[in-house]
Amino acid sequence: MMAGGNRGLVANVRAGNRSYLCLEPRELAEQRNILVTSALPYASGPLHLGHLVEYTQTDVWVRFQRMRGHRCIYVCASDAHGTPTMLRAEKEEISPEELVSEVAEKHRKDFEDYHISVDNYQTTHSPENKELTEEMYRRLKKAGHITQRVIKQAYDEKKNMFLPDRYVRGTCPVCSTPDQHGDSCENCSATYTPMDLKNPVSVVSGTTPSVRESEHFFFRLGDFDDELRSWVPGHVDGSMVNKLDEWFRAGLKDWDISRDAPYFGFEIPGESDKYFYVWFDAPIGYMASFLNLCRTSNLDLDFNEFWSNDERTELYHFIGKDIVYFHTLFWPAVLSGAGYRKPSGIFVHGFLTVDGQKMSKSRGTFIMASTYSKYLDPDYLRYYFAAKLSDAVDDIDLNLEDFVTRVNSDLVGKLVNIASRCAGFIHKLNKDQLADNLPNNTLFEEFSAAEKDIAAYYEARNYSKALRQIMALADRANQYIDKEKPWIQAKDSTQIEHVVRVCSLGINLFRTLMVYLKPVVPGLTKRAEEFLNVSPLVWSDAETPLVGHPVKQFKSLLERVDSKKVQAMVEDTRSDFSASTPLEDPNQKEDGLGEIDIELFSKIDLRVARIVKASLVEGADKLLKLQLDLGSEKRNVFSGIRSAYDPEDLDGRLVVVVANLKPRKMRFGTSQGMVLAGGPGGEDIYLLSPDSGAKPGMKVT
Ligand code: 2FM
Ligand code: ZN
Repeated sequence: MMAGGNRGLVANVRAGNRSYLCLEPRELAEQRNILVTSALPYASGPLHLGHLVEYTQTDVWVRFQRMRGHRCIYVCASDAHGTPTMLRAEKEEISPEELVSEVAEKHRKDFEDYHISVDNYQTTHSPENKELTEEMYRRLKKAGHITQRVIKQAYDEKKNMFLPDRYVRGTCPVCSTPDQHGDSCENCSATYTPMDLKNPVSVVSGTTPSVRESEHFFFRLGDFDDELRSWVPGHVDGSMVNKLDEWFRAGLKDWDISRDAPYFGFEIPGESDKYFYVWFDAPIGYMASFLNLCRTSNLDLDFNEFWSNDERTELYHFIGKDIVYFHTLFWPAVLSGAGYRKPSGIFVHGFLTVDGQKMSKSRGTFIMASTYSKYLDPDYLRYYFAAKLSDAVDDIDLNLEDFVTRVNSDLVGKLVNIASRCAGFIHKLNKDQLADNLPNNTLFEEFSAAEKDIAAYYEARNYSKALRQIMALADRANQYIDKEKPWIQAKDSTQIEHVVRVCSLGINLFRTLMVYLKPVVPGLTKRAEEFLNVSPLVWSDAETPLVGHPVKQFKSLLERVDSKKVQAMVEDTRSDFSASTPLEDPNQKEDGLGEIDIELFSKIDLRVARIVKASLVEGADKLLKLQLDLGSEKRNVFSGIRSAYDPEDLDGRLVVVVANLKPRKMRFGTSQGMVLAGGPGGEDIYLLSPDSGAKPGMKVT
């Protein structure tokens, strides 16, 4: 089946009872122009290994396309706008713009460390995004796809802000389970509005929300019902088609694309105190990051060619299964309504579990990208993820024990072993020069011939199958060396030439395997290219052997994974947890701590302390600096209690402090602990005090 003028590129194939997107093999000679995106990570928090599943999946595909000689542009950005960013910035006493650029810088660093080869990484708070978002809105409005009406919404009277559904919690109106989100119940799956909750509470201030009216702007998704129904097959993974059918049957409702001030986002032109909802401008961020690349690079890219012309260019979005509605319904409809092309394909993946369970901070498995890369080589993880990824939407599991075993066995024990077994003989017996002729057998040709299947697997995002086939070839190469036993033959001076040929074939087989693995392990490949003394490998290198060629002296290409380092990473993650994620960001709330055992609780070192001096902090109107006496030591703690206490009332007072909290660097100095207080915030903050008689330094148990 043809897909939107893409000349037979995307076909919706039925295999058994499952249909899936697959890409038909193409002639290499025909250069494709492809634009690829990964979902934009929120700028309100750091990247974790769950994000890395998607970036790895995308990057492997992009690198594969580039190795095949296609033009494949990959853009991403940090998703800047929305309430979580606004509240986190407020808490950190910086502007949202500052927060976004700080976090985006960290995201960029993670992308670099994990070899994610984006051509551009922006934030959605960019001039290009503002320009495009306003333009899209104007076009949609002109075409009659925007409507407006008054809605009722929960309002926090204390914070003077409307509350997104997720910022209200309360008791489920259906099953009475306490502490549920404002939109749905985790226990009985009922959906409702925040005001249906029993005892609703604002997550932001802890007060009971009121209900206020406000005029909102809506995108008329229903205008695109027919168009979307015929676009979905062939452009969205087959496994998603049932879900989409359900959504179509339920009817495509108007989509609220506006939010009231205070909000961090782009203002809606011609309105006052109205902002575009973050999900309206986020996908436009794909276009904006590309537009910025067109304007700032010398890549000779034409914006319109990629966004208006689906005959000559291809556009693919890699996303997680939680944001399918946005990408398969809203986004193509917005694009089409504003006169742009629709995507060529939406590639959906599942979530990451660690050791069979949802990632958890308390178990030490909510692993941040930067924590992992402190201890372990990102190529290990890329390989492990790729070995589990397919075109299916299933979740994938990072089993930490299996991770160590698999990487060590496949990459070190099988792959690198081929080179290390052969390189010494080439060095000693032929001065690092590969033989002019390879032994008379068909092994190299067999390896070359595997190229077709492996390429088809990569193309279809069936990386697990590609790697299985590559590792089967690695086994064949090792069996060949085992059979030839160069370490025995080399003792016979009449066999030297044969040994050099055998080992030259071994090195050539290793090189072919590196060609096939290059999209997955770019760091290792770079070191292999240096050893092989070749320019960057391309896919067609698998066709011809390297003969009579000088290689470099072999150095270790990859260390074994040390399980102690894995353990250290988990411990580090556990202690990160004590620094905690901001509570006011419900998107970042983890699976709930649930019950903790006494062992975990006893890790918290609570101490009695005396406030020696409390003082104001210049430039931070929410903080007080507390100089504390903990008996055997003095400490400084910055505490967000300014709105409830005057410094002069605190001198000499006893408090309880978390003494083993990781020190936190702030703009004004380092905070060495945390004093305990109760209450929702604002003027309602109450410091905890021990009864008189307690002495600084006493342990609280
Ligand atoms: O779910 C998320 O993490 C969003 N920040 C993804 C946005 S993707 C795109 F639409 F911008
Ligand atoms: Zn319920």
